[in-house]
Amino acid sequence: MFDQNQLHQFQSLETPFYYYDLTLLRETLLACKQASSKYDFRVHYALKANFNQPILLAIKEAGFGADCVSGNEVKKVIELGFTPNKVVFAGVGKSDKEILDALDRNIFCFNVESLQELQVINELAQQQNKIAKIAIRINPNVDADTHKNITTGLDENKFGIHQWELDSCIRILSQSKNLNFIGIHFHIGSQIANLDVFKDLCVKINEIHQWFDQCGFQPTILNVGGGLGVDYDHPDQELIPDFETYFGIFNKNLNYKPGQEIHFELGRALVAQCGHLISRILYIKNGKKKNFMILDAGMTELIRPALYQAYHKIENISKPEASGTEIIKYDVVGPICESTDCFGQDRRLPKSDRGDLMAIRSAGAYGEVLASGYNLRDRVRAVYSSIM
Ligand code: LLP
Repeated sequence: MFDQNQLHQFQSLETPFYYYDLTLLRETLLACKQASSKYDFRVHYALKANFNQPILLAIKEAGFGADCVSGNEVKKVIELGFTPNKVVFAGVGKSDKEILDALDRNIFCFNVESLQELQVINELAQQQNKIAKIAIRINPNVDADTHKNITTGLDENKFGIHQWELDSCIRILSQSKNLNFIGIHFHIGSQIANLDVFKDLCVKINEIHQWFDQCGFQPTILNVGGGLGVDYDHPDQELIPDFETYFGIFNKNLNYKPGQEIHFELGRALVAQCGHLISRILYIKNGKKKNFMILDAGMTELIRPALYQAYHKIENISKPEASGTEIIKYDVVGPICESTDCFGQDRRLPKSDRGDLMAIRSAGAYGEVLASGYNLRDRVRAVYSSIM
């Protein structure tokens, strides 16, 4: 994965740090753009996956819009030059201040997640003498077949307006003079590897879309959310996700008419594989039952294994496997005072030493953004391929 030159540069840097391969990022963006443009599908990048400036600038240059979930995310993308008419504001708990700020910035659309939020946006827009464009996020009760902590489209989840509330929703829409209904929105979960799930989603969207049409509310936008998973097990076999198949499923299964726009909100699929967490081995500790490899990175830098039992491939980049070194099983752990501070158990790795550099792969999405200051740790740094 890394050539001698990169390794040499890594050696001179203080660890831990996130390393982002901007060339791979650009190739991924291009592949997504080409596959989506085939059907004139539009993609808004879900900023929550990674909001580092060089990454956002590459995404803006590639022509993507932005899917934001906080006032600060909206502010950031507009300051970076994303055009407001490509900025969407989602999230179950938008504060009045955030709504007012987004109205002021004339963003493209609010994805609204509750009946009360509809009323509040209408009132605030009325105060500002504005018309707010809104899409209704509907919870379709479709199982995303992914980890329960990243499932969002089931009846028991807090997200979206439930189907039994849609009659009231239509009533509010028809009474709210400062709301302009433009779309319906769905997002059922993240890291979806079973693509059949997206077919189930299309069936449900078609049903709900038809119901809205029958009520006299024709959406211009069908926003199907994000969720496309990446290959954490074998990152090198699929560095760029299969966007062709993904968009093809929606083209084949979603019913839409000329003039309607299909929107996507991809996060992980665009940025996961371009990011690596690079760390040094501090200590090797051989126990009775386990060998521990203690790194200078921990759950404070990458919390996904602790929070979602997520698997990330771990490599000793100082000792590439081909070199014929003895293979040993290690529990790869961090320095934090928590037992869940473990990146992987019983990982088969070359016999390793203090000072070796380790790469935790596929860490570009929901990695650095979820870093914390627990134990008063230093904020993890970011290093970019093109500026090393
Ligand atoms: N749209 C909405 C409304 C979302 O809630 C999300 C992600 C996305 C789009 C982007 O989904 P993606 O394409 O990235 O799957 N921290 C977790 C993932 C949380 C996902 C939150 N919502 C993790 O590390 O797996």
